[in-house]
Amino acid sequence: MNRRQFVQTSSQVVSGMLLVKAGTAFGYQANSAVRHGLLGCGNRGTSVASSFSQNTTAQVVALADIFADQLAAGKDHFDKLNAGLGRAAIDPKLMFRGPHAFEQLAGCKDVDLIQISTPPFFHVQHLKGAVEGGKHVYCEKPVGVDVRQANEALEIAKRVKQNQSVDVGFQCRMAPPLAAIADRIRAGALGKIATASGNYNAPASTERVHAGAGPDEYRLRNWLWDRALSGDILVEQNIHIVDLCNWMLGARPLKATASGGRNILTHWGDIWDNYEVDYTYPNDVHFSFASTQFGADGRFDAGLKLFGSSGSATVPYSGPVQITGAQSWEWQESTSSVPGEGKFAANGAFLDNLKFADREKDRAFIDSITSGPAHNQIAAGVETALSCMLGRMAGYQKREATWEDLLAHGETYDLGFSLEQFA
Ligand SMILES: NC(=O)c1ccc[n+]([C@@H]2O[C@H](COP(=O)([O-])OP(=O)(O)OC[C@H]3O[C@@H](n4cnc5c(N)ncnc54)[C@H](O)[C@@H]3O)[C@@H](O)[C@H]2O)c1
Repeated sequence: MNRRQFVQTSSQVVSGMLLVKAGTAFGYQANSAVRHGLLGCGNRGTSVASSFSQNTTAQVVALADIFADQLAAGKDHFDKLNAGLGRAAIDPKLMFRGPHAFEQLAGCKDVDLIQISTPPFFHVQHLKGAVEGGKHVYCEKPVGVDVRQANEALEIAKRVKQNQSVDVGFQCRMAPPLAAIADRIRAGALGKIATASGNYNAPASTERVHAGAGPDEYRLRNWLWDRALSGDILVEQNIHIVDLCNWMLGARPLKATASGGRNILTHWGDIWDNYEVDYTYPNDVHFSFASTQFGADGRFDAGLKLFGSSGSATVPYSGPVQITGAQSWEWQESTSSVPGEGKFAANGAFLDNLKFADREKDRAFIDSITSGPAHNQIAAGVETALSCMLGRMAGYQKREATWEDLLAHGETYDLGFSLEQFA
């Protein structure tokens, strides 16, 4: 029985395990917990850390957040979750608040793994702290909101030690139906791929009102509406589909043209509510991508299609995952979900074809820590983030942008205020 089977078949072991200090590389025993510190106790952070707790030997022992209310909500949630799993409550000594919370967590000797679930603008700064602190890191996408951050992340990637594991939050790749079709596509099931198309049509995100919040705090709490903090919808949210496309094509775009704008949204912020991007990949393969993020009808539709000389592939979040043509194939368990009728999940915990994405992602990551080989997904994460920045640049500048243009002239973002006011 390997470690994964051990975890899968023994929920008692997962829930009742002892806390054993993580030792040297891959020196974990089957009954030892990976001591997990959550940085950013919001929607996604809480969901992913809970999934780690429920599906792996990781145990949330430390929390960090810039805001006291978020930290308190995190403690409340994880104390209850830990109690249900027969584990100790979070020790208040392992709770860190304020703009330096990430440094305190990175320096905390009682933590093995840091999960970075803060807004995108901070990912690279927080990644640097966690990697330099010698921690294993699970970093949410995107790895950077601009070229400067992306370059810095590539430098950080070089400093990751051989026994340190770093994952980037592209959980869709680990969803069983998507992983299965990707294997077939990458093995040539479509013949020569001629073209691809993709979409991400999501509802608007909702405002977060916090009593007494000044303008900077309002921005921080409503970071999704802010270009600098989020990277805009293409970099922050649509990135999952661009990542799937890069992965399945085994390439990154060479150039892009794009249009889009803010045609519906009237609330505060400067993000666009729609994008139409035409990416050119090697061999003149075009990927036509369109996204929307507005409306409150809850309708959600996201996916990718690839068209080749001997077949086509359909890869939706909801609906049949299939290949038609010479090597036709269909994921058997996805037929009950209806294409285009999926339910949006702001915390990324989607159902249908993505139902087990987080579970599989979390297990693979913890396996990489406990048994090896270690992961270092930073460079791949940067490549996808830059691919999205390329489309964003083409859209904002209303011109064709090449990869080289992006690297040479890419927009850089500044926060424009100091976080010290939240100390
Ligand atoms: N992989 C996915 O499917 C998926 C889904 C949703 C969100 N995400 C990503 O997860 C991240 C978090 O998103 P969310 O929806 O949970 O946001 P959120 O606003 O609900 O949570 C962010 C948390 O970070 C805290 N925070 C903000 N700035 C901080 C700082 N400088 N230091 C410490 N804490 C800080 C906030 O107080 C908040 O608790 C984002 O990067 C987002 O792109 C990924």
